Amino acid sequence: MQEIIRQLEEKREAARLGGGQRRIERQHAKGKLTARERIELFLDPDSFEEWDMFVEHRCNDFGMAEENVPGDGVVTGYGTVNGRLVFVFSQDFSVFGGSLSEAHAKKICKVMEHAVKVGAPLIGLNDSGGARIQEGVDALAGYADVFQLNVLASGVIPQISMIMGPCAGGAVYSPSMTDFIFMVKDTSYMFVTGPDVVKTVTHEEVTAEELGGAVTHTSRSGVADLAFENDVEALLMLRRFVNFLPASNREKPPVWPNEDPAGRVEISLDSLIPDDDNRPYDMKELILKVVDNGDFFEIQPDYAGNILVGFARMQGSTVGIVANQPLVLAGCLDIDSSKKAARFVRFCDAFNIPLITFVDVPGFLPGTSQEFGGIIKHGAKLLYAYAEATVPKVTLITRKAYGGAYDVMSSKHLRGDVNLAWPSAEIAVMGPKGAVEIIFRHDIGDHQKIEQRTAEYRAKFANPFVAGHRGFIDDVIMPHSTRKRICRSLAMLKDKKLENPWRKHGNIPL
Ligand code: HXC
Repeated sequence: MQEIIRQLEEKREAARLGGGQRRIERQHAKGKLTARERIELFLDPDSFEEWDMFVEHRCNDFGMAEENVPGDGVVTGYGTVNGRLVFVFSQDFSVFGGSLSEAHAKKICKVMEHAVKVGAPLIGLNDSGGARIQEGVDALAGYADVFQLNVLASGVIPQISMIMGPCAGGAVYSPSMTDFIFMVKDTSYMFVTGPDVVKTVTHEEVTAEELGGAVTHTSRSGVADLAFENDVEALLMLRRFVNFLPASNREKPPVWPNEDPAGRVEISLDSLIPDDDNRPYDMKELILKVVDNGDFFEIQPDYAGNILVGFARMQGSTVGIVANQPLVLAGCLDIDSSKKAARFVRFCDAFNIPLITFVDVPGFLPGTSQEFGGIIKHGAKLLYAYAEATVPKVTLITRKAYGGAYDVMSSKHLRGDVNLAWPSAEIAVMGPKGAVEIIFRHDIGDHQKIEQRTAEYRAKFANPFVAGHRGFIDDVIMPHSTRKRICRSLAMLKDKKLENPWRKHGNIPL
């Protein structure tokens, strides 16, 4: 027996060593942790249960029969984050560059299937040279198996991809079908074809970092949600992030102990809105002052800054925040912000996370670049997402709510449950100046008349009361009591039940 135990220990040791000390040192020299070190840091101490440590590939071509590393380049299993179950796979770049073989894919699929079965998030720590070149179509088939499971798990369990190394070719498509993509600066990149192929085909000279680095994808393409400085920061933030999420679509979001009083008054909010209604202010200030302990986990902070999205808590329970940001493009909705917010709203709706929407929107951004880019279809994504959502929806209009954008931003007409407004709210088809220039076009030369008409329009529509008369706004509230009013609304909506008619699936304007 002792001998068998010794052999087991030896096998385990071989698996733990991955591609060997030399390659581990190369990984460290790049400022990267190994697959196992990452899991250690991410999960609660001593909580990791590893599966399939002894799995080996079955490829005999190109001398592969002699090169077999137990585990085959990916560490898989489950563990806990702050006591809550998660499944994880972590690709080991020291073994064939973390490349995906048939066996490697099977290991990933096994944890995915279990994550769906028991209802727990799936976390992928990606660090891979793509398809295992020696395996050919078997590797491609393995990728497709992972893609298929990604799709079946979508909306059932949260899926998060942390890109911690190269991610090229078809390998980018599994992360792209997960709910969130996070990246590590300087050491991770994602692209469909790398710089060499780009140069051959389009004659463009571009570095890997420019083409698909963390900064590119979090600020330019919008493919990734957040960029972190290094592996340690990335994994610690990932733990924080997981704390916000429900384990699956069968559960409500977790409730954490909270000492921030629901009735906390914020007098400074009474002066947040500038006297001049064309002057911007920072909507983030409102978010930070309203949510529990000012803790706002912002998603895509460097992309489409005219809309803010992210997670926070109210009375300890997770909420999704969507807010127009007057500091950027005056808070207009455009293509990028519509896509950003639509995807976020749909995630929250899929996972029973109530939505709080803060509105200050002068409309959709005009211009040829927007129209030619398809703002009609992209704006409709956000409209569709809000209209489809059945989670509790609380909306607060702080200032402008003009035109179609008023309808879109979780209005009463899209089944907003509680729609509140500050006294500074202006709910109208458009701003007073634009409105008068259209309906009193024949008076445009007459400065005095235009002034008078504008004042009339402003008096009639630049307030929340016309909408209030019709019940489109449930109440006009004091800014300082915003937290209290939203907390009460959410408490009232706790057991909300609303279902959409049965259908195979809707057809969101993609
Ligand atoms: C097998 C691979 C590999 C791969 C890397 N390695 N990628 N082995 N299959 N795809 C091995 C290398 O041979 C090397 O082995 C070790 O991993 C480390 O690789 P290096 O090149 O030394 O590392 P580095 O300089 O950091 O470069 C990393 C890299 C580069 C940029 C990822 O290795 C690379 O370009 N690899 C090929 C990427 C690629 O074209 N993949 C296929 C994409 S197509 P040793 O023994 O020296 O340590 C695809 C199709 C999927 O994925 C389609 C799904 C639909």
